[in-house]
Amino acid sequence: MTTAQEHGGDVRLTGISKTYGSFTAVHPLDLTVPQGSFFALLGASGCGKTTTLRMIAGLEEPSSGTVRLGEQDVTALPPYKRPVNTVFQSYALFPHLDIFENVAFGLRRRGIKSVKKQVGEMLDLVQLGEQARKKPHQLSGGQQQRVAVARALINHPKVLLLDEPLGALDLKLRRQMQLELKRIQTEVGITFVHVTHDQEEAMTMADTVAVMNGGRVEQQGAPADLYENPGTTFVANFLGTSNFIEAEVAEVSGEDVFLKAGGGKLTLPKARCTASVSAGGTVLVGVRPEKISLTHADDAGAIPDGRNRITGRIADSSFIGVSTQYVVDSPVCDAFEVYAQNIERDTRLAPGAEVVLHWNPAHTFGLDADQDVEAGVEKVEEDA
Ligand SMILES: Nc1ncnc2c1ncn2[C@@H]1O[C@H](COP(=O)(O)OP(=O)(O)OP(=O)(O)O)[C@@H](O)[C@H]1O
Ligand SMILES: [Mg+2]
Repeated sequence: MTTAQEHGGDVRLTGISKTYGSFTAVHPLDLTVPQGSFFALLGASGCGKTTTLRMIAGLEEPSSGTVRLGEQDVTALPPYKRPVNTVFQSYALFPHLDIFENVAFGLRRRGIKSVKKQVGEMLDLVQLGEQARKKPHQLSGGQQQRVAVARALINHPKVLLLDEPLGALDLKLRRQMQLELKRIQTEVGITFVHVTHDQEEAMTMADTVAVMNGGRVEQQGAPADLYENPGTTFVANFLGTSNFIEAEVAEVSGEDVFLKAGGGKLTLPKARCTASVSAGGTVLVGVRPEKISLTHADDAGAIPDGRNRITGRIADSSFIGVSTQYVVDSPVCDAFEVYAQNIERDTRLAPGAEVVLHWNPAHTFGLDADQDVEAGVEKVEEDA
């Protein structure tokens, strides 16, 4: 039997939305974050992540819907009455107080006198025991960020909300802090809802990722599941790189969908196709760059039967150490991306070479063809 206590850190949003005048920042959405999980809200700037987080915190009043924490409906409660704490991008530590007093702040405010043991434990948790008497400006960005986490956790919230808390850190420190935050979450076991626009960050840290787009959750799931089985072109492009081929359905038979594209044939497992398919229709076939092998056209005979294959010509190749990234022009997709691990490099695979791209049909996914292939692709700003 489960008790209310065990569900105390569940977050349940039901039909929650936010409009500003005629603009809808968050469309009615339902989300459940289980107690003790690490949940990431991922999406591009302006998609409604902060607004959603602020509605959980009580800092923003929803236009519709309810917020439940555990068994309790907190929709009408002010922020300070919710068992929730927030860590923002700007940690806003008190500059005149030392680290110890910054962390002790929440306890002192509640009139608790003997704070030493609790503050000591918190500082140990974030590995800053040695820094207790320093002022914030004497710490690095990552250390300040950990103080902010300790300061929030000392209030024993049931849920910790984090809004781009690593945004101010450089890339290397960010990576380090991602692992650190994950360790802290595992250790304290409370629910974390983490907002980020960085897909790698979301995938590294979270048990569940919800991908937001234009005020809606487009898809949610475990990182590997989202990556391998994107339901839309937006999710496929936002979480890494995808290649798309528009293909015609030749036949649906048994477990497979057989397709025609540019004179060639492709196979797609029916279980990996989210579009409704019937002979004569079209489907968008997706495949991730690291799933594809490149073989020089002269050796095409050695490619095992049963693999999906496309012919093309290498347009560009970039050696980046662990892998080489190729761009291949083919009749079915210009700028096909292929990532090859640098194990035994075939020096013939250079720009201009005729090649065959081939992959296991099991790594193919199928999407509704009625979508923008470019949705969610990171736009590179161009100078006018
Ligand atoms: N007080 C407000 N009044 C009017 N529009 C607002 C207000 N707050 C937010 N918005 C709009 O709502 C949308 C969602 O904003 P939100 O801050 O939730 O985005 P976000 O996903 O957190 O973006 P970012 O990654 O840039 O922080 C934006 O288009 C924003 O301009
Ligand atoms: Mg934001």
